[in-house]
Amino acid sequence: MADTLKILSVESSAQTAGSVTRKLSKQLIETLSGKNGGAEVVVRDLNQPLEFIDETWVGANYTAPEQRSEEQKARLALSDKLVAELQAADVIVIGSPIYNFSVPATLKAWIDLVARAGVTFRYTEAGPEGLLKGKKAYVLVASGGVPLGSDFDYNSPYIRQFLGFIGITDVEFIAADGLMTKGDEAVSAAEAAIKAVA
Ligand SMILES: Cc1cc2nc3c(=O)[nH]c(=O)nc-3n(C[C@H](O)[C@H](O)[C@H](O)COP(=O)(O)O)c2cc1C
Repeated sequence: MADTLKILSVESSAQTAGSVTRKLSKQLIETLSGKNGGAEVVVRDLNQPLEFIDETWVGANYTAPEQRSEEQKARLALSDKLVAELQAADVIVIGSPIYNFSVPATLKAWIDLVARAGVTFRYTEAGPEGLLKGKKAYVLVASGGVPLGSDFDYNSPYIRQFLGFIGITDVEFIAADGLMTKGDEAVSAAEAAIKAVA
C-alpha cells in the first residue's frame, strides 16, 4: 500500500471568518485528500504566535550546529519545527492573500524562519541549491484588485522564487484575484481550478 499523502497547510490570512484563501485551502486539501485515498494534514496557522528573526537568531543560525549553546539551540527551536514540517510534507498548500502588493508579514516571517543554509538550501560552486526535493506546492492567492501576474503583483513571483530557492520547483498558483471587481466570479474560477487539479 502506498504511503499516506502528507500535506502541510500554511495559512497567512489575518482573517479567519470570511477568508477566501482559507476557504480555498480547505477545498483544495479535501480534493487532494479525496484523490489520494486520504491524507495526513498538518496546519501551520501563521496567526498563531510566530517570531521575527533578530540578531540572536541570526547568530545562532550562523553558528555550526555542533557548536551551538543550549540558548542558541532554543532560539532556533521554532525554526527547526517549521523546517521539519516542510521536510515531512509531500505537498505544501500555502494561502497567501495579497497584502499591500506583497505577502502578509506573517508569511514573510515564516519564510525567514525556514530559509536555513545547510538545511533547506546550500551554496555550491555551481550556485545555490535547494535541498527540499520532490515536493509539490499549491499557492492560493486572493486579492482585492491586483491581478495575479500583473506588474503590481509582488506576491506570486516572490513566492515562486523563494520556493524554487529551497528546491520546491513544482508550484501551481490558483488565484481568486480582483475580488473587488469580479466578486464571486473570481472565487468560482479558483474553485473550478481546484476541482481540476491532477
Ligand atoms: C491589510 C490588507 C492589505 C491588502 N492589500 C491589498 C493590495 O495591496 N492589493 C489588493 O489587490 N488587495 C489587497 N487587499 C485585499 C485582499 O487581498 C483581499 O481581501 C483578500 O481576499 C484577502 O485574503 P483573505 O480573504 O484570505 O483574507 C488587502 C487586504 C488587507 C486586509
